[in-house]
Amino acid sequence: IPVDPFDLVIFGGTGDLARRKILPGLYRRFIAGQMPEDARVIGAARSELDDEGYRKDVRDALKEFVSKRALSEENIAAFLSRLHYVSIDAKGEGGWKKLAQTMRDDDDVVRAFYFSVAPSLFGDLAERLHLHKIAGANSRIVVEKPFGRDLESAKALNATLAEHFDETQIYRIDHYLGKETVQNLMAVRFGNVLFEPLWNAQYVDHIQITVAETVGVGGRGGYYDKSGAMRDMVQNHLMQLLCLIAMEPPSRFEPDAVRDEKLKVIRALEPVEPGDIVRGQYEGKGKTPSYHDDVEDGESRTESFIAMKLHVSNWRWAGTPFYVRTGKRLKARQSEIAVVFKDAPHSIFGEAAGRHRNILTIRLQPNEGMTLGVTIKEPGPGGMRLVDVPLDMSFADALGPEGDEIPEAYERLVMDVVRGNQTLFMRGDEVEAAWAWTDPIIEGWTKRDERPFAYEPGTAGPEESAMLLHREDRRWREIK
Ligand code: BG6
Repeated sequence: IPVDPFDLVIFGGTGDLARRKILPGLYRRFIAGQMPEDARVIGAARSELDDEGYRKDVRDALKEFVSKRALSEENIAAFLSRLHYVSIDAKGEGGWKKLAQTMRDDDDVVRAFYFSVAPSLFGDLAERLHLHKIAGANSRIVVEKPFGRDLESAKALNATLAEHFDETQIYRIDHYLGKETVQNLMAVRFGNVLFEPLWNAQYVDHIQITVAETVGVGGRGGYYDKSGAMRDMVQNHLMQLLCLIAMEPPSRFEPDAVRDEKLKVIRALEPVEPGDIVRGQYEGKGKTPSYHDDVEDGESRTESFIAMKLHVSNWRWAGTPFYVRTGKRLKARQSEIAVVFKDAPHSIFGEAAGRHRNILTIRLQPNEGMTLGVTIKEPGPGGMRLVDVPLDMSFADALGPEGDEIPEAYERLVMDVVRGNQTLFMRGDEVEAAWAWTDPIIEGWTKRDERPFAYEPGTAGPEESAMLLHREDRRWREIK
């Protein structure tokens, strides 16, 4: 279904995120027929380029970041004809008049401004958009993470944006919310009667959230070393996953109804004990550089891995641990959420049948899908022996041959901006609450002057992380 006509301005239109994600995502929506005939995308950045130069640059980006079978000369040419470029000085006056003239003067055309630039420029952009009367009541802005680096800076950013835009116009992206399986998590929880009655401390033993990556931080060392896994991944992506797993059913699938419930989860998170946190940093191996090599600082104590045990202290989750972990240079790229249910209260099959538990695994990537482990009788005449078998659903299979190109997070989110749907975007108070929980944890290890544990690349992180669960007779699911 096509969305309303729009003019989308991408500040930072020549940057890495625009080339890798935003423009390829728009291209895919374009070939899916979702971009209206007269939709336009306007790249804005410092470089001196004209429309043709920009189109050439974007053509290269598409060739690099869109799968071959989605590319055809005809489609590329048609998509590029929607692109324009304005060279702009975010901190000065250069280019703003031209940008104002480039925008269509029509109240029916949605104006969206994607701030794909350093947060230090957000204020300048917001101010100039208003000064030059480019942004008005029908405008929306999209901002990227990192949204601040602590509570204070996030509050300052929120205040700056609020000077020029209403909260209903601000779309704070967390691209994890655009992932198909993450949205499916809500469909599964609230679209079935099967799960919700069991979704609580009475039936759930614990929950695991894993976001494992194989890449290192090479190339982004400057940014990453100031952030670490806690700020880069936990404060936003993992926190959002946890919220969707733990929240109460919202009354409707509407922006504030959903975000109110997520906010309650964040506010119910308990402070984390130092003994419930394991930080790690990858070593080098063979030709693989170490974290210290990647960030060019042999003394850095920033974590490239973190595992934590968390508690959501409310009626539903009292006493149920949430184990979360994320790291770079691990064994596999594997993101999943596992809901591990409790043992059956009484085994009628005796001890020989062993211990069996239902586990619902939601796979974010790769091979998006869901598996429910069910205990059944081992086939054959050997008596009542039990085995666990997976009820497996791969989304690609379930959706049929056309379904293997599951839309990428950015495609979905950019279209939601044009539709004016904020459900999958973070509200200002959510971001602040997340930092309010994160800050004391980081302050704690900084004060204690802690060094992260070293781990070998290609593993599941430092061994100490396994201990977090072993000591409670549990274990992490395998990264494979
Ligand atoms: C980004 C982080 O937000 O998410 C990166 O800054 C990380 O460090 C990336 O690699 C992971 O995203 P995805 O979609 O590849 O899981």
